[in-house]
Amino acid sequence: MIEIADRMRNLQESSITAMTVRCQELGAINIAQGLCRVPPPPSLLAEGARDFRDIGHSYSAPEGTAAFREAVAGKLKKYSGLSVDPVTQIVATVGATGALMATLTALLNPGDGVLLFEPFYGNYPTALGVLGLRAEPVRLFGPGFEVTDEALRSAVTDRTRAMIVCTPNNPSGRRLTTAELMTISAVAQEHDLLVITDEVYEDIYFGSTPHIAPATVGDLGRRTVTVSSLGKSFSVPGWRLGYACGPERLMNAVRVAAESLVVCPPAPLQELGARALRLGDDYYRGLREMYDRKRRVLTEGFAAAGLSPNEPDGSYFLFVDCSRLGVATGTEATEVLLRRSLVGTVPGEAFYLNPPDRPYIRVCFSLPDDVIADAADRLARGV
Ligand SMILES: Cc1ncc(COP(=O)(O)O)c(C=O)c1O
Repeated sequence: MIEIADRMRNLQESSITAMTVRCQELGAINIAQGLCRVPPPPSLLAEGARDFRDIGHSYSAPEGTAAFREAVAGKLKKYSGLSVDPVTQIVATVGATGALMATLTALLNPGDGVLLFEPFYGNYPTALGVLGLRAEPVRLFGPGFEVTDEALRSAVTDRTRAMIVCTPNNPSGRRLTTAELMTISAVAQEHDLLVITDEVYEDIYFGSTPHIAPATVGDLGRRTVTVSSLGKSFSVPGWRLGYACGPERLMNAVRVAAESLVVCPPAPLQELGARALRLGDDYYRGLREMYDRKRRVLTEGFAAAGLSPNEPDGSYFLFVDCSRLGVATGTEATEVLLRRSLVGTVPGEAFYLNPPDRPYIRVCFSLPDDVIADAADRLARGV
């Protein structure tokens, strides 16, 4: 009999998929899924429709087209303060997920430990498991979820070789400060760790402080592979366009891994992606204003329901402590909200290796305004 590979045995479908099915069964509003459901910039779609026939339909180079890499380098320089050579330091990938998988594949060996800051994006442990890597939790505590020297140091083991740093964070909405990144830099240097950043929400933040790219802080530039994608910034997650960039010595191996995984990301979309990456300040300002508005409406819904949503300063998620529902776990909280308000949410447990200390749920506000208003109204009336 053909067996499932050992390393796949304990890997499961996420609870978000299960909630999506339940929402469909009950006719509930699904604000659980992290899917971006706002439209892409109209100018981009119009240009794409006009030019698609003529923009190259064969493979690109494994590291991506020159136009795409130059546009990534331009954006990184302008908005993240990172100087990156587009020829030797950038690899275009199939989404941030492709960048993450290629980086893990290229730079780590089976059995290596990778630190994950809890709460974390639920796909990380699965990605590590698929590659035979070991997830090592760094427990952070709400409401601030600050990275402390003590939390980080106590999580390092003799197998630790890397960490994944997500800022702005999914699910907590936290952005790491320079002080926290200095702590990360010091510990990474002391233990000679690879740092992989996940900055897919870099353009979605609230307040006046711009995004801080970890690779610009302390010693991190020497040991960091920066990962991001166009999915969230331009509302085109289905284009599956992302990139990894970092020191040339590391990126050679990442390029080989990326090519062996998928050859290259879709070439015509790289051309359109390059155009998206050249959109100006007004575009990003508009994006942030739109998400800020959505965030406020949903926050008010939870507050009216007597719950305490956090105040995310980035990403498009709220992470809500549901202690006031009188429940012990996030899973119970999702059931209560589903039954009372017909609103589907994700239990906090999906973002931890070990159960969280509070009954958290996560919801997404990358949804049309009428869906958010309806969800807020159901929450306010139902709970
Ligand atoms: C933190 C984080 N990283 C990566 C991804 C996946 O990005 P991509 O669609 O570019 O692969 C997501 C998608 O929700 C995410 O939330």
